[in-house]
Amino acid sequence: MITIDGPAGAGKSTAARVLAERLGYTLIPTGAMYRALALSVMRSGVPVRESAELLAHLAPLSIAVKAGRVSLDGEDVTEAIRSREVAQVTSNVTTLAAVRAKVTPLQRQLAAKGGVVLEGRDTGTVVCPHAEVKFYLTASLEARARRRQAELAAAGTPVALAEITSELAARDRQDETRELSPLRRPPGAIELDTSDLTVDQVVERLLVAIEHHKNAPGPAARWSWFYAAMKIPAVALMRLLFRVEAIGREHIPEHGPVLLVANHSSVLDPPLIGGVSDRQLTYLAKAELFEIPLFGALIHGLKARPTRREGADPGALRTARRVLEERGALLVFPEGTRGDEGDIRPAKPGAGLLAVSSGATVVPVYVRGSGRAWPRGRRLPRPAKVTVTFGKPLRFEAERGADRKAQYEIASREMMDAISRLRDGMIAGTAQGRPESVRVVGRSGK
Ligand code: DC
Repeated sequence: MITIDGPAGAGKSTAARVLAERLGYTLIPTGAMYRALALSVMRSGVPVRESAELLAHLAPLSIAVKAGRVSLDGEDVTEAIRSREVAQVTSNVTTLAAVRAKVTPLQRQLAAKGGVVLEGRDTGTVVCPHAEVKFYLTASLEARARRRQAELAAAGTPVALAEITSELAARDRQDETRELSPLRRPPGAIELDTSDLTVDQVVERLLVAIEHHKNAPGPAARWSWFYAAMKIPAVALMRLLFRVEAIGREHIPEHGPVLLVANHSSVLDPPLIGGVSDRQLTYLAKAELFEIPLFGALIHGLKARPTRREGADPGALRTARRVLEERGALLVFPEGTRGDEGDIRPAKPGAGLLAVSSGATVVPVYVRGSGRAWPRGRRLPRPAKVTVTFGKPLRFEAERGADRKAQYEIASREMMDAISRLRDGMIAGTAQGRPESVRVVGRSGK
């Protein structure tokens, strides 16, 4: 989700359109949506003020945006909404609560599926404050006035620069000082002054910033010094005792959210998998462990987070979701409790739910030998050879309107199948870092 805020004439619309094209994203031009409503209000003659009459006029209107074209009740109004009169009325119309209450939810709904560029002066502050990348484009009043003049001249309505400058200054004042969704720089937004830049230069800079964001570690991915320090002796010890070997480590994406799903037959599994992974892993462990003095603090410091074993655990699910939202790597054991060496049991529904709802990359992991090295019921570990195999990444995409529970079950089953294939030695192609397979979990469940 990308938002572009900024004052009139800063180049938002053009930059957003070209950016969306370059990324293959959907453009949501919010200003144009407001302009379409304003055009309808103008045509109807309904006065621009909060009133039952205005509400009644707005309620049945339908605005749609497709391939950069805006339609109002089915009529293409893309050009009609570009006049100075419409701009002026829009500036007034957008100060009304009834108007924003109609349009904001519509914009959020359009943005919800992601892969979107929202453009307009409250997209990063009000419509999508949680957008991944937020921009704030500015330009000097003079530069903006010159652009508007050129735009109007191209449309066959030449206007004096001084007139446009004072109009723009007035709109700035109105947009900045209005009570509802005033023009503001969104917190965390990347600011870019476009006064002396061409459209291509602006878009290039936006693309660089987006690429940079993709590669930047999120809060959950940042290394804790404690985890990093503990990893060194832990790995040395596990090498010594278990001759730990890792296969297919390249399947763990270097950046971005990733869900590692593994079989579970030993308490050693989290440190074994964490030890051979280049990423810092957060993992879910049963809540009772956190109550053990010192040990509880230790595993918390090593990024374990509590989960209840019986029934659904909304708290653990929230934690898990947050780790993925913060672009971290999360390790879960879909089977829940530990089983016997070599045994792969059905997954609990939680892992499937997490995979489908987060859309994160899922890496199947098979740990061989840990159930011999330290099985359930033994007080101490014993030397045994352990191999950790990472499989080709999977991704589960939900289909809109499909039966969600069925989707989660299918995703859970598929990930356990992938782990079984690793156990059975079917790891062909793992070393090549091939593109991940995308599984669409469909309505029919096939
Ligand atoms: O960006 P634009 O010129 O097409 O916007 C038209 C008007 O709508 C302008 O006065 C600002 C207002 N607007 C708004 O209030 N909120 C938005 N998200 C987008 C535009």
